[in-house]
Amino acid sequence: MSSRPLIFCALDTADLEQARLWARAIGPVTGALKLGMEFVNAHGPAGIETVQKAAPDAALFIDLKFHDIPNTVAGAVRTICRNFAPAYLNVHAAGGRKMMEAAKEACEATSTNTKLLAVTILTSLSEPEIIEVGYTSNLEEKVQKMALLAKDSGMDGVVCSPFEARYLRKKCGKNFDLITPGVRPSNSDTNDQYRVMTPKHAISEGATHLVIGRPITDAPDLARAAQEIMDSLK
Ligand code: C5P
Repeated sequence: MSSRPLIFCALDTADLEQARLWARAIGPVTGALKLGMEFVNAHGPAGIETVQKAAPDAALFIDLKFHDIPNTVAGAVRTICRNFAPAYLNVHAAGGRKMMEAAKEACEATSTNTKLLAVTILTSLSEPEIIEVGYTSNLEEKVQKMALLAKDSGMDGVVCSPFEARYLRKKCGKNFDLITPGVRPSNSDTNDQYRVMTPKHAISEGATHLVIGRPITDAPDLARAAQEIMDSLK
């Protein structure tokens, strides 16, 4: 677990020039950026390179949530690690032990320092929706089980809700990253996030790093909004 909490700013856009400008303005302030499906599906490897060039010192989280057979996920992890050596990359814990172990092995074989995270249950799912997809145990139990499986399969941490951070920290111990979206400064719009916590509160609950998008990217002054969030952690 690194000592300083990082704020990964989510660059959620399909507009390449916008992502480049966001990366240039926000990267030096937060020191960490996240690229997800919207951007990567629009601009692919060249887009990732553009963002890395715009913010060369920022830690990058490539959030593509791989979920496929072990061999296919291993190949995807190998390709991303070789080409971009991101700080973080993620897979779905629901892919199972063999898939996570294959991802870990592929990552290690590239000798990058990329950390692998597992997504347990998507925080957008409510309890009735979880039952609808066929899971039977209650949400907290399920998230704990999947986080422990992820740890046991070699993952470096999980993406989780800040409301799950306290019990996951207790269950999974100290050397396990808990990266939480669903974070909002107290003066900010919740947008479509269901339950939110302030950055400081999320860290005090046990989150290692945070993912924050629109409170920064929708702000009139991006660098200032990012700086205010960084300052709120002091
Ligand atoms: O704009 P906002 O701060 O809500 O952005 C949150 C980011 O975190 C988005 O990129 C979203 O895809 C991601 N995320 C999330 N909830 C999860 C996993 C990822 O909001 N459970």
